[in-house]
Parts: sequence; structure tokens; C-alpha cells
Amino acid sequence: TRDRNGIEEILLRNPRGASTRVSLYGGQVLSWRTDQGEELLFTSSKAIFKPPNPVRGGIPICFPQFGNRGALEQHGFARKKLWVVDGNPPPLHPNDSYGKSFVDLLLKPSEDDLKMWPHSFEFRLRVAITAEGNLAMVSRIRNINCKPFSFSIAYHTYLSISDINEVRVEGLETLDYLDNLLRRERFTEQGDTLTFESEVDRVYLSSSDVISVFDHQSKRTFQIRKKGLPDVVVWNPWEKKAKAMADLGDEEYKQMLCVDGAAIEKPITLKPGEEWTGRLELSLIPSS
Ligand code: BG6
Repeated sequence: TRDRNGIEEILLRNPRGASTRVSLYGGQVLSWRTDQGEELLFTSSKAIFKPPNPVRGGIPICFPQFGNRGALEQHGFARKKLWVVDGNPPPLHPNDSYGKSFVDLLLKPSEDDLKMWPHSFEFRLRVAITAEGNLAMVSRIRNINCKPFSFSIAYHTYLSISDINEVRVEGLETLDYLDNLLRRERFTEQGDTLTFESEVDRVYLSSSDVISVFDHQSKRTFQIRKKGLPDVVVWNPWEKKAKAMADLGDEEYKQMLCVDGAAIEKPITLKPGEEWTGRLELSLIPSS
């Protein structure tokens, strides 16, 4: 299928009918639905579906830079590039084969990208909907240059929630975090679980590989499982910032929470020929 700008989108469905949709623009996942047709990712009603904007919602990929921690544009350039489908994807690890419900997208730097960031790489993103209906994303980044480079990465995951005031996140307790609202100062999380009553913009450091997001009102629990992605970004713009954002409705901050698997604090370094793999799998588990 194609979106309104003629950009190709790939729709993947598992045998039970759960689905995901990914755009070649940015390699951005725009939808993840249960076999009942319920959408699990947030997309703003004010989202601008017109390049060069990445869509406000889904899962934009921040690469090779997170935020403004570096010389590149905010969150790097990958989310604003046209990726290509690899029609003949190589077999990866047997755990990453996902039957027929997957697609491999590739990004290689253009001449312009190389002027901004002089490192030749190949980024292979496998997006899959598993037999259970989980959304799996496997990133493989290879250095095809003759000198080492370092990068950061985040899967900027906009979860769809019923009410930000009713949500809690588990798996981040006692961790250190960098607070983007306080000049990236380092703090230690004190609470048992994380709840929300104002703007949050943090990078939690070296978390365990399972994070849970409980949404009481909708009785949904998201589970985020990750490998190779030590950090977790938690972001909600809250009222004032939401009002200042053209592509987010004034009240929509209540229906979204970003929880990203990421590698930010310690950038990943690849020597020539080396490859890095990062895995993220999102699932829904019955609420207790
Ligand atoms: C978050 C950052 O991850 O992304 C925030 O920590 C930022 O500081 C947000 O505002 C959204 O970024 P953008 O570029 O998509 O508006």
C-alpha cells in the first residue's frame, strides 16, 4: 500500500490477524494491532503526514544520534530518510525468522548524509509480527567503512494509553537516570513504580531487559523486552509542551507515553566490518 504522499507502506499480518504497518519513510512503524483490531500505538490526530516531518506517533527510529546530544539534527537523520525493502533478506538468527510475517528494510547513507556524518554503514531493520501478535524489531548496523564510528539509537515508542494519570511503569525502580529537563543531571529513581503527574523527559540507565507499562483503565499491560539496548527513555510532554507542538493535540498528551528501548549514555562503537544487533519486542500481557 501507499500513503497519501505515495510513500510505500508494508502491512504485515500474522495468521490470527494481528498486524503491523511500517512506512519506508523513516522505517517508522505506524501501527500495531491485536487480532481484535485494537490499535496499540499512539498516533496524533494532528500528525503531519508529509516529509520531512516524521509522523508524531508510532515508532520513529532515532539514529545515529539521540536528541540534541551531538552535531546532527534532533534524533539523527534515519527517521527522515527513505528506506528500501530488501526483497531477498538473509536468514538471520533462527529466533529472528518470524515465519512469513516480517520485512527487512535497509538504510545506507546518501552523499548528503556522509557530508554530515562521514561514516559508511548499512542499517538492516527487521520488523515482524510474531505468531503471538507481538511486534518485534531487530536492528543490525554494520560498519562498512575503514575507520571506527560510534552511534546512539532509540526506538521512540509511542504507546497508546487510556489516561496518563492512571498508568505506571515497572522495571525502572532504583535506577539512575539523566533528566533532560534539568540539564541532563543524574538522579536515582526512588519510587517503587513510576507514575505521572507532570512533564517527564528522562533516560534511565542500564535497565533490566523487561519493562512493564500498566494501564489500569483499559486493563492493558504492555511488556517491552529488549536486548542490546541498555537504556530506557521515558517521555511525556504534558500540557504546556503539548500546546506548543503543532502536531500534537492540546489534550493528547494524556493518551500517549513514550517508553523507548535505547542505547544512549554509552554510544555503541563499531570497528570496520563489525556489526551490532539490538532487539525490541513489544507484547500485551493480561493485566493482573
Ligand atoms: C524525546 C526527547 O525522546 O523526544 C524530547 O527526550 C523530545 O526531548 C521528544 O521533545 C520529541 O522529539 P521530536 O523531535 O520528535 O519532537
